Amino acid sequence: MWSYYGAKTNVVQHYPPPRHGKIIEPFAGTARYALRYFDREVLLVDKYEVIIKIWKFLQSCSANDILSLPRFTHGENINNHKYDCEEQRLLMGFLIGYAHRSPTDKATVRARERPNRLNYNINQVAQNLWKIKHWQFQWSSYEDIPDQEATWFIDPPYQFGGHCYRESNRNIDFNLLADWCQSRTGQVIVCENTKANWMDFKPLVSQQCSSGRNYEAIWTNGQSSFDFKQLSIF
Ligand SMILES: C[S@@+](CC[C@H](N)C(=O)[O-])C[C@H]1O[C@@H](n2cnc3c(N)ncnc32)[C@H](O)[C@@H]1O
Repeated sequence: MWSYYGAKTNVVQHYPPPRHGKIIEPFAGTARYALRYFDREVLLVDKYEVIIKIWKFLQSCSANDILSLPRFTHGENINNHKYDCEEQRLLMGFLIGYAHRSPTDKATVRARERPNRLNYNINQVAQNLWKIKHWQFQWSSYEDIPDQEATWFIDPPYQFGGHCYRESNRNIDFNLLADWCQSRTGQVIVCENTKANWMDFKPLVSQQCSSGRNYEAIWTNGQSSFDFKQLSIF
């Protein structure tokens, strides 16, 4: 729905599809995986309160609430406009930025390079609101979610590289998280990059990001094509 640091926007299609009627994202962010399979029962959990406030706002607002948001030009400050509620301003703070970790105050350079970008994004959000009407949201840490049968899409801040989030890898004990992931009931998909060593991750796909080339990795408890390395042909 909105641009966010570490969102799985460009790689989400590479993960195995859900095998259960319910999807749980314990490190939700912008929940690109749940959005791809939005018709399932969905539970999103995040420890960063701003994320959950925005999701709840999007669930309760109308398309007109979104379409009436102000259009910004490059360098314009978010406080030049009035908002109906705090959540509308928080959302706007992400919409005028690109891959930010928290809402920003000023429209980034992309607003100059792509003048219709904000307008396009606002329209996209308005058109997708209907997809999340039946979702559930929870502001808490991942450990608070009771175990249950589901597809668990687990995308924590990277062990190496995930220090920039407001709720970062600094407060995550990756050994405990590894045990927690392996004790979930149902299908478990864990996301990382290939530098991580807290589970036996397999390479998934490489992608160019702002800090260079990143190699996405996966651990899953079901068999997937990533368990097999391509055989050399002699
Ligand atoms: C890599 S991002 C998730 C990106 C998401 N998959 C997407 O497509 O946008 C990780 C998220 O985990 C959240 N987080 C960090 N520590 C957490 C914790 N202990 N419990 C729940 N969420 C946490 C962060 O606030 C951040 O939004």
